[in-house]
Amino acid sequence: MIAPSILSADFSRLGEQVREVATAGANRIHVDVMDGHFVPNLSMGAVVVKGLRPVTQLPLEVHLMVEDPGRFLDGFVKAGSDALIVHLEVLPDPRPMLEHIRKALGKKVGLAFNPDMPVERAEPYLRDIDLALCMTVFPGFGGQAYIPESTERIKKLRALLDQHNPTCEIEVDGGIDAKTIGEAASAGANVFVAGTAVFGAKNGPAAALKELAQLAKGASSSAGSS
Ligand code: DX5
Ligand code: ZN
Repeated sequence: MIAPSILSADFSRLGEQVREVATAGANRIHVDVMDGHFVPNLSMGAVVVKGLRPVTQLPLEVHLMVEDPGRFLDGFVKAGSDALIVHLEVLPDPRPMLEHIRKALGKKVGLAFNPDMPVERAEPYLRDIDLALCMTVFPGFGGQAYIPESTERIKKLRALLDQHNPTCEIEVDGGIDAKTIGEAASAGANVFVAGTAVFGAKNGPAAALKELAQLAKGASSSAGSS
């Protein structure tokens, strides 16, 4: 499944770009929210989700790269978000918030962690989530290179999820392109965030998205049969 990150889209024609990737087969839209504290950059807020809600029926997933995610959950839900992803780094005990998102807000819940967070630290919470977001770059900016050590981390996460929550998705985020998507898919990822590789593609987002989807499918089916 491909989740184009609109961080790299042309904001002067955001609706059009989202329609284009939806028609090309995108499975969801990834919305990167940055607060200038948890990450050294600012991006967008709930108003963007509100603006996109009438534009597409695809799920809008919100990646909260913020220090205090609890403050923003209601606003994103009201705006029409379908999934809320929070970072393990800012939550000493993530369980109450994960449960709140799932039960009180009735939304899909994701837990994200940075490349320097040991994967095992997420283990106690894997039963409480729908999606594990394994960062494959340090968050904050689009267009960075995939960190090669991520592949081992994805494999470890896959093994832990097989044990605790086999239907939980593994999403990878950062530096996913035609060169890296196969490796991440073979390691066990099944949702691929791609910003630059989709919206910055020479031949346009639709062609890039189709190529990525095909490469991911090819890699995961050969990994499954080996
Ligand atoms: C990184 C964000 C990503 C980013 C991915 O801080 O969480 O979602 O937009 O961008 P690319 O695909 O360009 O690495
Ligand atoms: Zn993201």
